[in-house]
Amino acid sequence: MELEELSVAEKAAMLSGGSEWDSRGNDRAGIPSFVMSDGPHGVRRQLGAGDHLGLGASKPATCFPTAGTVAGSWDPSLAEEMGEALGHEAHDLDVNVLLGPGLNIKRNPLCGRNFEYYSEDPVVAGRMAAGLIRGIQSNGVAACPKHFAVNSQELRRQASNSVIDERTMREIYLTGFEIAVREARPMTIMTSYNQINGVYAHENKHLLGDILRDEWGFRGMVVSDWGGSDSAVAAVKAGGSLEMPSPGYTSVRELVAAVKAGTLAEADLDARAREVAAVARATRLDGVGRDDLLDDAVAAEHHEIARRVAEGSMVLLKNEATESATLASVAAALAGGDARPSVFGAPHGVSAPILPLGVGTRVAVIGDMAKTPRFQGSGSSKVNATREENILDEMRKLASASTLSAGFGSAGAVPPVTVTGYAAGYDRQGAANPALIDEAVALVSRDDVDVALAVVGLDERSESEGLDRSTMAIPQAQNDLVAALAATGKPVVVVLVAGSPVELPWCDDVAAILYVGLSGQAGASATVRALTGKVNPSGHLAETWPVRYDDCPSAGWYPAAGRDAIYREGPFVGYRYYETSGVPVRFPFGYGLSYSRFTLADFAPAADGSGVEVTVTNDSDVPGATVVQLYVSGPSRSGVLRPARELKGFAKVALGAGESRRVRIAFDRYTFRHFDVAADSWRVEAGEWTLAVGFDAETLPLTMTYTVTVAAPFGMPVVDPAPAGDAAPDPALGHYLTGDVTHVTDAEMRALFGREVIAPGKPTVFGVNDPISSWSGSRGFVARTIARTLERREAKVREKTGAPDLNTLFILNMPPRAMAKMTAGMVDSAMVDAIVAIGNGRTFRGACTLAAAHFRNRSANKRIAKELDHE
Ligand code: BGC
Repeated sequence: MELEELSVAEKAAMLSGGSEWDSRGNDRAGIPSFVMSDGPHGVRRQLGAGDHLGLGASKPATCFPTAGTVAGSWDPSLAEEMGEALGHEAHDLDVNVLLGPGLNIKRNPLCGRNFEYYSEDPVVAGRMAAGLIRGIQSNGVAACPKHFAVNSQELRRQASNSVIDERTMREIYLTGFEIAVREARPMTIMTSYNQINGVYAHENKHLLGDILRDEWGFRGMVVSDWGGSDSAVAAVKAGGSLEMPSPGYTSVRELVAAVKAGTLAEADLDARAREVAAVARATRLDGVGRDDLLDDAVAAEHHEIARRVAEGSMVLLKNEATESATLASVAAALAGGDARPSVFGAPHGVSAPILPLGVGTRVAVIGDMAKTPRFQGSGSSKVNATREENILDEMRKLASASTLSAGFGSAGAVPPVTVTGYAAGYDRQGAANPALIDEAVALVSRDDVDVALAVVGLDERSESEGLDRSTMAIPQAQNDLVAALAATGKPVVVVLVAGSPVELPWCDDVAAILYVGLSGQAGASATVRALTGKVNPSGHLAETWPVRYDDCPSAGWYPAAGRDAIYREGPFVGYRYYETSGVPVRFPFGYGLSYSRFTLADFAPAADGSGVEVTVTNDSDVPGATVVQLYVSGPSRSGVLRPARELKGFAKVALGAGESRRVRIAFDRYTFRHFDVAADSWRVEAGEWTLAVGFDAETLPLTMTYTVTVAAPFGMPVVDPAPAGDAAPDPALGHYLTGDVTHVTDAEMRALFGREVIAPGKPTVFGVNDPISSWSGSRGFVARTIARTLERREAKVREKTGAPDLNTLFILNMPPRAMAKMTAGMVDSAMVDAIVAIGNGRTFRGACTLAAAHFRNRSANKRIAKELDHE
């Protein structure tokens, strides 16, 4: 039977989930149900009770580095390789749709989910995501890029309205998704929880219809985030295909009623049902799905891939020469002369950079995280890893190796490093414990210690879905430890574990910093291999590291505590802000060191006009890889407001010692375009553009002027000449023109947005879309007590366990409407209205209406279940 011949109720039933992870199929039309599973850096396949917070048990699977870390590789082909392995595991664990990658823009360093997102830049985010999607889908499994769109804070995550101007939305927050959709053709996409300019993402016609489907040509299935849909009818009209997880039959009833009433066209219902059916058919798992454990050989192979990804992603932030005579003499004694292998790219001896650690270096390993690793974040992405490693054991393994492994440039019976001892150094939960610091200092001060290796960073409570960080600092106990270690005079090498930038008050006092991010289950061995030179770090930062949190452009209004999250800073996100305003940073976007040295020369347009070329040389005797980055700046006499420069292309280049290569970076539809709001269209400004190449957003040794003409041969959708004459952006944009967005006025915002931007007020009446947390200000005793009890409970659990209570947090951030979407039909919209009445202090009336609505809902569900059974 054809899908169109099914009854309205049957088609409607396909548009919502049958359980936490399963879609509803239809036997009569031969459409199987399919399985969705998180995502994004490992498969979280739950067979028992499902949950979308990463709390319940799931099958073992490989935990790869998280997106924030993988982005450091600037290598879409590495992301693709990881995606292939992910898709393979999804397939073997009977998963049709893997819920990832996450590619929201990192608007502010404190977003609790930054570790799951790639970058502050849409080109990096889009291209990395495209790689992962291609890899996943090569297995016949659907990828599901998320969370579409403008979703950059966790506070009130289901009840927040992102207020943003159209141009910023298109150029910064949507371009990454556009690249992923156009380049990798994902079969599905997940809408975000939030509203965008007052309309929920899952029922946003502008987002899903005008942009995603009409402009980018997406033909797949749009699934809501779990509990993120609002009106089932509005979703179907706008292009939202599938509501997850489980509204039971409540949405089916609403859709059937709307078709009957003539307010919803059956053709729209058919279109959405076809989108769902297409995923079911395209991802049929040909009976392989074993609901079983991964094959041992596959697990071993994927552990190696996870290691390679981690190795290609970690970023060397600092690597200074050490003055330590002890180190030099010990190393020399052990190796019988000049112990520092030639991989240093600097003269041998005391003036060589501290990393990689020289042969025979005696290391004190410090830090609880060296022994009990932290390699992923909390929440729905949490993977039950197949293996676990830690840095201490990996260091010891290396030390016990009797001969040097290949790749060091010298041989002998001296182990690369020896581990003198270990000290925890700090309390994992952040409590001050001077005794732990004293113990670590005593160890490091011993004569048989050359180097202190300090593993520090964010703990489990700091980085989680559902909760933004409250500070950019790492726990004070750890800062105190690093300062105390540095004060011993021994060189300190810091291994930094964190999914997002942190403040580094001791940056100037340590010899080296290796930023390993959240590096997945093989992160420890990858780290040790980088520290000892087996691997040459080649990662570059995919987001700016500000000196301190207050330097961030959105620090003054992030996260928004009320309904409206106003994106006041416009396009000045990350380096677009720092490079325009001149605010100094700790490490710029794109930055990363290597054990090699690279130079650039001969920057010129490609002969065929399709891009630019530059010669990259590895000027050292160590093989290594770097990231060449292309930035563009608009014509000087431009009528368009722009950041000082924007990344438009990049290439990861691996070069042998002394090798040179001519590298080409192609222009594409994104290189010169801007979104012209008045014309509702993309435009290119003709004129003299400045193009620059370098190794980070701040260090751009080569620039050239490049003339863009109307006939620019790079396939632009719309090419227009520049506005005539001495064009200049609208002066009413005021502070935006200098990038000084921390001082923008409401009038300047009006000029940017092209409309009045309402200042958020404190709601006095709660609606279906206000989170339960807002009830703490309710005039009703019961509602107030519910909210405050939940808040207290969450604080207590966090205190006790050291990790956020994700369940309670979810309820606090949840608006009542979500209850109708996540309770398998137990709650419908009439019941939600009654619950809202309770929230507004009409406790008795609300409770009575709730009871009556409950019985009506039960009978209505029974009726529709019967109808569906009889079809
Ligand atoms: C998260 C999604 C996730 C879904 C299913 C939601 O809470 O926002 O990223 O895929 O749950 O677990």
